[in-house]
Amino acid sequence: MTAKEIRKSFLEFFKNKEHEFIASSSMVVKDDPTLMFINAGMNQFKDMFLGNVEVKHSRVCNSQKCLRVSGKHNDLEEVGVDTYHHTMFEMLGNWSFGDYFKKEAISWAWEFLTEVCKVEKDWLYVTVFEGADDDGLKLDEEAFDFWKEIVSEDRILMGNKKDNFWEMGASGPCGPCSEIHIDIRSAEEKAKVPGANLVNMDHPQVIEVWNLVFMEFNRLASGELEKLPAQHVDTGMGFERLAMVLQGVQSNYDSDVFTPLIDKVVELSGFKYTSQEKSETDIAIRVVSDHVRAVAFAIADGQMPSNTGAGYVIRRILRRAVRYGYSKLNISEPFIYKLVDVLGEQMGEFFPELSKQQELAKKVIKEEEQNFLRTLEKGIDKFNNYSKTVTETIDGKFAFELLDTFGFPIDLTE
Ligand code: GLY
Repeated sequence: MTAKEIRKSFLEFFKNKEHEFIASSSMVVKDDPTLMFINAGMNQFKDMFLGNVEVKHSRVCNSQKCLRVSGKHNDLEEVGVDTYHHTMFEMLGNWSFGDYFKKEAISWAWEFLTEVCKVEKDWLYVTVFEGADDDGLKLDEEAFDFWKEIVSEDRILMGNKKDNFWEMGASGPCGPCSEIHIDIRSAEEKAKVPGANLVNMDHPQVIEVWNLVFMEFNRLASGELEKLPAQHVDTGMGFERLAMVLQGVQSNYDSDVFTPLIDKVVELSGFKYTSQEKSETDIAIRVVSDHVRAVAFAIADGQMPSNTGAGYVIRRILRRAVRYGYSKLNISEPFIYKLVDVLGEQMGEFFPELSKQQELAKKVIKEEEQNFLRTLEKGIDKFNNYSKTVTETIDGKFAFELLDTFGFPIDLTE
């Protein structure tokens, strides 16, 4: 299946189970002081979980644009360096607002993965919340028992509060979760080390694909947990990871979510993409292909790069991409803006906000690139002139001057 077909089949599956399709909300958060960007599909439903608004549809599905670059969920430093984290990503989700709970969430997730997507059952592992004394929470026996009806016990692993108790931020709706992990290593590797040993161990081929959250609590600012008025389901599946699995490739960047962007970076830079985890040019190509998505979608959602708050986060993401392009791909002219049309072609149909703002995104990105390239050149000259006069250490005052020039720390020794 192509990425577009995968998204469609997920949504169709849940529509057939009486879920209403709801469009992705803007990735930029304007009315929640606890959040800068949407970091999960559930954000737009926060008030429904809390019981603050009337529930129109008790079952909902969608594909939400998320950005995990600040606050509790921040993957920025992993992006590009590994092959399965992203700044902007799509989260496929199904929700129940006071309707079905653990049993259906678990059995439908299994049905979709193994019967619709035809994922091999013995590639899958599931995790269950083991409990947490500090919150007075016990092992999630209910989820454990439902999983036992579906998979053998050796595939059900216990997870701690960090991995198996999902919270959107320091406060807000939360609850125990059950994750589904997939092992896409070769048979030979599987024979050497069982997949169960690698779950939640940051292995690039043994990764979480779907998180089923059983929302029951609200974390108060005091840190205490309060029971929600009803029990809900919030699930999140990594669309790019699912595409990787279903397309039989070993990296999200080798799926057709990314290959058109990567091909364009290859064309513009003249460097080949070899799909290696450790290659510096491959990392740079991944960083650029990833970051353009975050920046273009943020602009399409009304967030311009700027010097403060959310705008500064977007500016830094773009500058990280420019820096990788400049230092690893030898590109000293604006080029990232040229990827926006490729992105529009891929995603503009499902996310029409992108098509509408495509020209604006190109213009803003080009200007930002131009300005930062000038800054970068000036800063590097300054550094080179300075470092001719010293051997080992740099004066603190000069380091701060440089920091001021770039706006954030850059490793100039790379
Ligand atoms: N809200 C579920 C997740 O983000 O994993």
